[in-house]
Amino acid sequence: MKETIIAPSVLAADFSHFAAAAAEIDASGAEWVHLDVMDGRFVPNLTFGPKLAADLRPHSKGIFDVHLMTEEPGALASAFAEAGADYITFHIEAAIHAHRVLMQIHELGKKAGISLVPSTPVSLIEELLPFADLVLVMTVNPGFGGQTLIEGCLEKIGALKRFREQKKLSFLISVDGGINAGTAPAAREAGADILVAGSAFFSAGDKKAFVRLLKGA
Ligand code: DX5
Ligand code: ZN
Repeated sequence: MKETIIAPSVLAADFSHFAAAAAEIDASGAEWVHLDVMDGRFVPNLTFGPKLAADLRPHSKGIFDVHLMTEEPGALASAFAEAGADYITFHIEAAIHAHRVLMQIHELGKKAGISLVPSTPVSLIEELLPFADLVLVMTVNPGFGGQTLIEGCLEKIGALKRFREQKKLSFLISVDGGINAGTAPAAREAGADILVAGSAFFSAGDKKAFVRLLKGA
């Protein structure tokens, strides 16, 4: 079995010390850096734009996993591509022409992901899955870190895995929201390839041990 990828979210970092947060992520053994972009419209919170990704890029060896929680995600894709994003993921709930946005991200030379809020079923994105490199299953309502994982959302992972097998697709399945040492085993057993962790990562004393724990090692 492939090792679970860990993607700490800088949403839970001290916003006056992003470079230090990137260094902590690199040193922890986590492979990805999750960047939560919020516009105050799609979600009731604001974070940062592409300049943060660009400024952070030289401070990190990790894969930049940009999670757009924004309206009109297509309008931001090229700026994040230029800023050094590796994966650009947007919400199906924010994009009527989602296929076009996936294509746009691919044309920029980046991997494209699609995300689902807890109330959105997998069936809504089936037509898009052949064009996606990643599916981000939200296990909390997006907008804030530190919330409790909604267990029922984990069932979507199984549905995605079955669809992936049936159609011989290769998208990665990522889980975001309320992941900690207690909830990670269920997400891994359900079949997640990537676990995003914000508050649990930044509050862990020994980050290397925490990452090993999340990986189930
Ligand atoms: C929530 C964000 C998450 C968040 C996870 O809107 O998309 O990535 O940072 O934070 P925790 O791990 O604290 O739930
Ligand atoms: Zn996120």
